[in-house]
Amino acid sequence: MGGQHPESYISGLQVRQRISRKQPKGLPVINMGFNEMPYPPPQSVVEALSGRASLAHRYGSAACNDLRQALGVLHELPADQLICGNGSEELIDVIGRCFVRPGDGIVISQYGYIQFSMIAHRLGAKLTKAPETQFTAQADSILAAVDETTKLIYLANPNNPTGTLMPPEEVARLADALPASVVLVLDLAYGEFVGEDYCQRTHALVDAHENVVVTRTFSKVYGLAGVRIGWCHAPLWMMGGLSAARGMGSVNGFAEAAALAALAEHDTMRDRLRELLSERDRMFDALSATALDVVQSQTNFIMCGVPGEDPALVDRLVGYLFDEAGIVVGPVREEGLGGFVRFSLSLPEHNALAVETVQDFLEQRP
Ligand SMILES: Cc1ncc(COP(=O)(O)O)c(C=O)c1O
Repeated sequence: MGGQHPESYISGLQVRQRISRKQPKGLPVINMGFNEMPYPPPQSVVEALSGRASLAHRYGSAACNDLRQALGVLHELPADQLICGNGSEELIDVIGRCFVRPGDGIVISQYGYIQFSMIAHRLGAKLTKAPETQFTAQADSILAAVDETTKLIYLANPNNPTGTLMPPEEVARLADALPASVVLVLDLAYGEFVGEDYCQRTHALVDAHENVVVTRTFSKVYGLAGVRIGWCHAPLWMMGGLSAARGMGSVNGFAEAAALAALAEHDTMRDRLRELLSERDRMFDALSATALDVVQSQTNFIMCGVPGEDPALVDRLVGYLFDEAGIVVGPVREEGLGGFVRFSLSLPEHNALAVETVQDFLEQRP
């Protein structure tokens, strides 16, 4: 493993440090930095978690049979092609460990999710970044980056930090054009924000190809970021290897109980999703009316460029948001995105406060 952490990892640490720093005016801290949902879990999820407490002396189900069955029914997928993990982060990592050896190639898009670069770094892989157009991953560019060393492609669609989406027809074209020896990981952490139809089309690629894996999470739309639970849908032949590479007890009993209860909260989740999407439209319009350069998002966050794309201005804006309004946001540090900041959507009043504070900052800027 090399010594240097990618810069945006450092930026993640800075966000955490800001949260632990005292808000100078004593205001409540509003976290708009981690792409979490702003709503607390529904009562039934809280009860499922506390109900599991009296069984804490028992192991959870290593194979997560109940949860895989429930996911299979909900998404019309075969439960024996699903694996649950300690957040989708674990599964994304497990897939890398299964298919990549030191010196092998991993391809991601230019502004692809930072975790992919970290995994390549940990595995000692050769990382190639395929150029994007208008902050959006391109199928042809990814295909051009594939060479004889490439073992894996990670594509978060929609992507974090950009929030953009490669259209599903393009993803299908990418999957069709790849050699069977290259595994294509489609990370749908934010898939629900695009729509169920889109998610189904992506899962259909697993049926049509022996080298496509889809990862999903309960951390975003289901609002369970803190309990750590995700899942993946993979071709049958990969099940043995992926299951063996995953930690046996990586999904604890609390996480499975919470996920099962959350799946039963259909109406609440749908309403929350609807509210968040309308907030996204409102926030997009409001931010676009400022001097920020706003990137259209398909997720629960919005990335914006500051005037002149000046990283020093980003740092000042991030500091101002915290000091004046208690708002924590993450500067985006991916190569080429130093002049950008990312706002995770929050409750309407928090979003409005963020826009107001941005406006104040930009007006006072020398
Ligand atoms: C694109 C993307 N994939 C995966 C994850 C990991 O999610 P989790 O491990 O919480 O399931 C995140 C988290 O922010 C993400 O942005």
